[in-house]
Amino acid sequence: MSRTVTASLDLTDSRTFLAHDPFEFFAGVRANEPVYWHAAAADRPGFWVVAGYADVVACYGAAGALASGRGTVLDVLLRGDDSAGGRMLAVTDRPRHRGLRALLWRALSPKVLDSVARKVERRTAGLVGAALDADTVDFATDVAEHVPMNTICDLLSVPEADRPDLLHWSKGALTGADELDSLESRNELVLYFMDLAQQRRESPGEDVISTLATGLVDGEPLSLDDIALNCYSLIIGGDESSRVSAVSTVKALAENPAQWRALRDGRVDLDSAVEEALRWATPAFHFARTATRDQLIGGQEVREGDIVSLWNISANNDERAFAEPRSFDLSRSPNKHVALGHGAHFCLGAFLGRVELRALLGVLAGTVRGVEVTGPATRIRSAFLNGYSSLPVRLLPR
Ligand code: HEM
Repeated sequence: MSRTVTASLDLTDSRTFLAHDPFEFFAGVRANEPVYWHAAAADRPGFWVVAGYADVVACYGAAGALASGRGTVLDVLLRGDDSAGGRMLAVTDRPRHRGLRALLWRALSPKVLDSVARKVERRTAGLVGAALDADTVDFATDVAEHVPMNTICDLLSVPEADRPDLLHWSKGALTGADELDSLESRNELVLYFMDLAQQRRESPGEDVISTLATGLVDGEPLSLDDIALNCYSLIIGGDESSRVSAVSTVKALAENPAQWRALRDGRVDLDSAVEEALRWATPAFHFARTATRDQLIGGQEVREGDIVSLWNISANNDERAFAEPRSFDLSRSPNKHVALGHGAHFCLGAFLGRVELRALLGVLAGTVRGVEVTGPATRIRSAFLNGYSSLPVRLLPR
């Protein structure tokens, strides 16, 4: 079989998108070779890159043919199997995925989250209020950082005093200074939650950890480290992606004054604005899978065992699925983006993620007259997480 290698960027290098515009790059990929084989390097195998919207959606929908159990983030998958495979929801395949997801869903369904939503609104209003009182703030570290982590911590009933440590480890786990730093952060998080899981098993409360500590999957209780791994995944999944989507949204509003005015003047529906904010932000550049059998993807012959990466950033800007994709349009409809994934592994925290963005857009529209970016935004150095770690802004009161 032929495996063409498109001369292209190194999509495994965390610095690639600091230096190159992903939109321009992927527009070229979609036009020329929308499914291509990314060359191997001395220290890692090659893999498929899937760039077109229709192919990405089809791959997300084919959980039987494209498995998650060996890992779903290129960085981990290319180094070998994910050690959490078959234990942490995102990297577990059917049939166990179904039982584990049902248990976690009990703790994260819209019904359970209703009171959490009210808290998110209050917290967001308080933080934006403080930012209005200050002259300039870093929207990433002074505002966005404080909503998602506290929300997940509320759900998990993590004591207030421990939250700064969790935030520190959570940031370190995905974007640590080096591999060792990231590993240490991950270990700290898992050890912390094993401790908490043990306590909740002995005296359960109403929180997510207690649900996991007392629930059954396939008739068996979860081990302490499996509980800890799933808490870790809620922290990582729920904190980073929500945080960067809030920052990207504020940056986009500042750069698109007409859209900002439409939001502020109540001329856009908040639900549709949330979807465009998610599409625009696309916090995860990609997710990845492993082929469980030989198959054709976009006309290319993919073999059993091949790694297949699905580029959300490209799918969400595919001109065949979105009219004028590089225009930020809060009223965009239809807007079936894949920022939250699709199919069996569709984001379990989607409701919460949307609640957080909706609260932010609502509070900004109600209390802020204008947003000015006052300094350069700092891009996160990552081939997985797409967004900014710093965004200096001035919020002007209404
Ligand atoms: C899965 C994005 C918020 C927990 C996913 C996936 C995406 C995603 C793309 C699919 C991964 C795959 O197919 O391999 C986002 C974005 C968010 C967000 C953009 C915010 C704007 C949250 C929150 C939580 C969360 C708040 C937790 C409370 C999870 C979990 C999964 C997941 C546990 C795995 C689901 C499964 O494998 O069945 N998320 N997420 N996410 N997300 Fe989110």
